[in-house]
Amino acid sequence: MKFGFYDSGIGGLMVVREIVERIGCVDVLYLADTANFPYGDKGKDELLRIGKRNLRFLFESGVDAVVVACNTLSVTVGESLRREFEKPVILITDFLENFQLPENSILIGTKGTVESGFYQRRLGVKALATPKLAQFVELGVWEGREVESYLGETLPDDFDSIILACTHYTALRGTIKKLKPNVKIFDVSELFAEYFALKFANMKLGGEIRIFLTGSGDKYPEIVSALKFPCPVKFL
Ligand code: DGL
Repeated sequence: MKFGFYDSGIGGLMVVREIVERIGCVDVLYLADTANFPYGDKGKDELLRIGKRNLRFLFESGVDAVVVACNTLSVTVGESLRREFEKPVILITDFLENFQLPENSILIGTKGTVESGFYQRRLGVKALATPKLAQFVELGVWEGREVESYLGETLPDDFDSIILACTHYTALRGTIKKLKPNVKIFDVSELFAEYFALKFANMKLGGEIRIFLTGSGDKYPEIVSALKFPCPVKFL
């Protein structure tokens, strides 16, 4: 089975990495819509238009199913995208079927994800928009003074767990752990990877990861090699 994975940038590749970690190499055509990054600040109409175009591209390229590996897109226009296509469209939020969050948790995500109110309704959690974080990650800034001081200024003091509701934030797990060593981190990329691994447990594995960028991405070769995929990876 061939999967299309799709995000505004590098975040969805973190999800693919988490999946490969659990089940091994999967045949993936990965679309990073770098020409339109970031999605977090865009309105619903624009996201729907962009989303339809990119999903159509992936299906026309021969994939059997597409994973929308982007929280912003999934919570704002995910259901509309699902209705638009005959082949399966899997949303990053599909992991929520069996998920509960402990009390005294907070959620961080893009402006679009937080303003949609989706996770607040589903999990009863307090949510905080951290619009700069996806930009840091996209630029390859995953640690260091700049990102630490932004997180330090933005995160409150009194919470026991945090849910990372943007696939880009997977790259910041280490930095968040360093700043908040006693806080439990729930990463949507990991939670989704667990859901995906169970759902496709009997799938024939193997294949390569092909990456297609709609715009520029100077940092991509460096980031992809830092992710150390144990499978063939090539840029289209
Ligand atoms: N990775 C995306 C998400 O999960 C969004 C980043 C962005 O484009 O703003 O929401």
